[in-house]
Amino acid sequence: MMFSDTYRQYLDVFHEALNRFVQNLSCEPPVLKDSMTYSLQLGGKRFRPVLMLAVADLLGVPQKEIVPFALALELVHTYTLIHDDLPAMDNDDFRRGKPSNHKVFGEGNAVLAGDALLNTAYEVLLKECLLGKNQVQATRYFALCAGINGVIGGQSADLLFSAKEDFSEEDLLFIYENKTAKLIKAATVIPAILHGGKYMIEFENFGGLLGNLFQLTDDILDEESTFETLGKSVGKDKEQDKLTAVKLYGLSGCKVRAELMVSECDQLLEGLPFDTSFLHALVDFVKDRKK
Ligand code: IPE
Ligand code: IPE
Ligand code: MG
Ligand code: MG
Ligand code: MG
Repeated sequence: MMFSDTYRQYLDVFHEALNRFVQNLSCEPPVLKDSMTYSLQLGGKRFRPVLMLAVADLLGVPQKEIVPFALALELVHTYTLIHDDLPAMDNDDFRRGKPSNHKVFGEGNAVLAGDALLNTAYEVLLKECLLGKNQVQATRYFALCAGINGVIGGQSADLLFSAKEDFSEEDLLFIYENKTAKLIKAATVIPAILHGGKYMIEFENFGGLLGNLFQLTDDILDEESTFETLGKSVGKDKEQDKLTAVKLYGLSGCKVRAELMVSECDQLLEGLPFDTSFLHALVDFVKDRKK
């Protein structure tokens, strides 16, 4: 099957769950649901859920077990985007080709929509925890990835190193690993935890590398792409003097690194006793993506 057909199949599974979630979401006042669902339904690649569903398939984890985790992951990812765009953070007016959450609902509602998506993700996961110990372990891993030693720490470092000249390569690696790679690790490791723990290290290494590659291409696109293609502002990293790979290595240095990371990902996948052809293609998708 073609890569795009398989990607589409996973997208369909995910969207069915997302639509069900949105239909059942009930809260007052209506603006709360409206602001949450606005950002959730703007689109986006759904890369993390697709990756998670694909790894679960490889390991034989049933779809009904993995789908709630894929949903929670996209809820948390979407919250990070809403908060990342706030004037107090990156101050971005556009996301996924449309006005950012705070441009539509105001800053206060955008803060709350982010909080609401984060909290609701744990409601979804805690329900899964009633099923067994593996679900509890998986939820704990999820919380670590999303937490202070994960996305929140990474975003804090991203702010700390904005417009600063006193930094090292290690600081960049810290930002990459935490603000971006941790959630992508959640996508690859949680299926392994639900599977019983075998291959957890292998999938952690793979998710880490792929997550770092994902942020590398994000930084390259901020420099090279256009608003029309990307659906979000471009040139913002330079404008805000963010600590990015482009700042540290230059564009051509980034591209050499991207190729090297692809080979490393491929090598890791080759060490696994599964048909990893879709994951190989997903690595190339991350490297070659235009948005
Ligand atoms: C953007 O993530 C934020 C980063 C971590 C680089 P995506 O590129 O996955 O954004 P969407 O979900 O497709 O909009
Ligand atoms: C995003 O990094 C990391 C998040 C946790 C949201 P960026 O700030 O580079 O993401 P974009 O470019 O705004 O999507
Ligand atoms: Mg940011
Ligand atoms: Mg940003
Ligand atoms: Mg960016």
